[in-house]
Amino acid sequence: MQPRHFLTLLDLSSGELNRLVQRAIELKAMQKRGEIYEPMKNKVLGMVFEKSSTRTRVSFEAGAAQFGGHAIFLSPRDTQLGRGEPVEDTARVLSRMVDIIMIRTFEHEKIETFAAHSQVPVINALTDMYHPCQLLADVQTYVEHRGEIADRTVAWIGDGNNMCHSYINAARQFGFTLNIACPEGYEPDSEIVAAAGDTVQIIRDPKEAAAGADLVTTDVWASMGQEEEQKIRERAFADYEVDDAVMAGANDDAIFMHCLPAHRGEEVSASVIDGKQSVVWDQAENRLHAQKALMELLLDKAPA
Ligand code: CP
Ligand code: NVA
Repeated sequence: MQPRHFLTLLDLSSGELNRLVQRAIELKAMQKRGEIYEPMKNKVLGMVFEKSSTRTRVSFEAGAAQFGGHAIFLSPRDTQLGRGEPVEDTARVLSRMVDIIMIRTFEHEKIETFAAHSQVPVINALTDMYHPCQLLADVQTYVEHRGEIADRTVAWIGDGNNMCHSYINAARQFGFTLNIACPEGYEPDSEIVAAAGDTVQIIRDPKEAAAGADLVTTDVWASMGQEEEQKIRERAFADYEVDDAVMAGANDDAIFMHCLPAHRGEEVSASVIDGKQSVVWDQAENRLHAQKALMELLLDKAPA
């Protein structure tokens, strides 16, 4: 049987995603009660990281341990993948030894190739195109703070990057409206936008995009792999900081999210990220709970 992979939010149905979010909330409550639950007993998670990480690494590794399983951290510095062993061969070999694999890499095609040659589920832990695990945590956080996200309005302020692409897919799957404010030349991929139809619109002005929003979110101006563009991007995005003026136009009970790491004084002001509308610490914690729910589902251990 072909394993189920999670490379984008479109790999699960809308119903499965909503159930997963509810399950993440349950798993969080179970963990807080100190309940032992070990659906990964004797199971091993392989973690391939070709980019840096704090949250993703720790949440997956801790999640596997809490589930009674084990995680192996693999960096290109130490593996043959880093010395040019083909992705296909690495996938064939690793998937004969471990039960589930997460990968953080550059080209999205690389994770697709890996998944096509893997006997076990593969999870996208960020590529240049998408960051779907983060969206599981973001939606969980919204639901915990404000209830249903369907029919709400989300404002994305900043780069049309991997996070923005996953927000577009989330708008389709969870049924919210997404206003994107980005400078010219930094739009999200046009095919991803077109596939989302009316749920997504590009509005250049950050204040206009945030007007009436229930959730305002942003991300770094230069993503991993774009470090050399930092200075050019600082100029291009100078008017795209989420500050008090942007938040003032959003709904009174709007919340602010950021996948982190954040740069105070660039994409977000300290007053917003450290202010009372910010839920970024809950959002970061929820990576743990949402990914536990995801691993449980892909390992076919989720309760019926
Ligand atoms: N948000 C996120 O994925 O953080 P890390 O890069 O620290 O994993
Ligand atoms: N867009 C950012 C997200 C980091 C979690 C990056 O790719 O670096």
